[in-house]
Amino acid sequence: MSALPLLSVEKLNAWYDRSHILQGVDFHVMPGEVVSLLGRNGAGKTTTMKSIMGLLGRTAGQVKFNGVDLLSQPAHFRFHQGLAFVFEERRIVPGLTVKENIELGVIASPDGYKRTKEVIDEIAETFPRLKERLTQEAVTMSGGEQQMLAIARAMAAHPKMIMLDEPSEGIMPKLVDEMFEYFETLKNKGVTMLLVEQSVEHALRISDRAYIMDQGEIVHCAPAQDLLKDAEIQERYCSV
Ligand SMILES: Nc1ncnc2c1ncn2[C@@H]1O[C@H](COP(=O)(O)OP(=O)(O)OP(=O)(O)O)[C@@H](O)[C@H]1O
Ligand SMILES: [Mg+2]
Repeated sequence: MSALPLLSVEKLNAWYDRSHILQGVDFHVMPGEVVSLLGRNGAGKTTTMKSIMGLLGRTAGQVKFNGVDLLSQPAHFRFHQGLAFVFEERRIVPGLTVKENIELGVIASPDGYKRTKEVIDEIAETFPRLKERLTQEAVTMSGGEQQMLAIARAMAAHPKMIMLDEPSEGIMPKLVDEMFEYFETLKNKGVTMLLVEQSVEHALRISDRAYIMDQGEIVHCAPAQDLLKDAEIQERYCSV
């Protein structure tokens, strides 16, 4: 395994207009690692992911991905470097079928047109729920199915790293378990993941390490197994 991080974030600051939200965020993710970013509501987790993806107006500090400096680059450049982001609100395109939504994810990637059929076949095999619904209008599916689609669409570009913002939000427990089983298979394939998740136990069980954020800063970092046993830290920083 390479000794260099795939993602390294140093002194990351971010603002919404005049509100200074991220106050010098430092963390890294090694290739093949699954890392959780935890913390209570408003801690800055979504803002961190959006800043890494290039979706915030004003940021400062350093974000390096695969050795490339990202902070001055637009979002599509970052996507082409192999970075994928699944929004908490999913952003499924209305009026398009499940298959067409997946195709959007493929054709947006370099070389995408050539791989469309292969990727749809691969996704149909991995997600039986989506396979049965390929020709259905995507927004008519259940919330959980739409979340699966958002994840499948992000994976369609074969990213080097996927960032997931609260994938289990509003989804019934059976589907959450299914989703985390899928994350486990991605992990076993060596896909690098950064995960924000309210279900701390689910997140920590598949993570190698976790960072805890509070008020726009990283306040704690530990192996996921240690945090799972650390009720005090969980209570202090992760309870709503
Ligand atoms: N569009 C915005 N404009 C102004 N302030 C915002 C905006 N989005 C978020 N904030 C503020 O930035 C801070 C961090 O928000 P962020 O959404 O990153 O938190 P979070 O850790 O993802 O929380 P949650 O667990 O509730 O999703 C909060 O104080 C929030 O009110
Ligand atoms: Mg959030």
